[in-house]
Amino acid sequence: MVSVSVIVNVEKRTASVPPETTLLKLLRESFNLTGAKLGCDVGDCGACTVIVDGKLVNSCLMLAGQVDGRDILTIEGLATSDRLHPIQKAFEDKGSLQCGFCGPGVIMSAKWLLDENPNPSVPEIRDALAGNLCRCTGYTKMIEAIQTIARESAKA
Ligand code: FES
Ligand code: FES
Repeated sequence: MVSVSVIVNVEKRTASVPPETTLLKLLRESFNLTGAKLGCDVGDCGACTVIVDGKLVNSCLMLAGQVDGRDILTIEGLATSDRLHPIQKAFEDKGSLQCGFCGPGVIMSAKWLLDENPNPSVPEIRDALAGNLCRCTGYTKMIEAIQTIARESAKA
């Protein structure tokens, strides 16, 4: 067994798991954080996207043992009990209503992008979302939502 101690969404969490346990499995099964989803399990779909020490990662491709001592942000860490995160609100307002499978990963990629680059161009937004597959709604509304946040932060 591997002992893992991490900060997840500003809270210290520990677990003891088999060495082959992925970060995704750690989050979902040890910490009951089920926002990140198991889609492809091979790094292609982005459904499992989370942020580790400020870097966007596919949690299906990382082992739990690799995140010991690190800082993790998941979709559950964005909204408060009574308020959506501004990115989630912008997606809602723009009608970018993603399903529960792609949505959490898309929002985490948007969060990472806007943290890194508060005023991204459309090609930069497309690049940031390139690892998140949605086969149904298209990407136009997602891009508009991210542009809205960028415009609002430029005004602030
Ligand atoms: S489940 Fe991790 S990228 Fe698809
Ligand atoms: S809305 Fe989730 S896969 Fe298209």
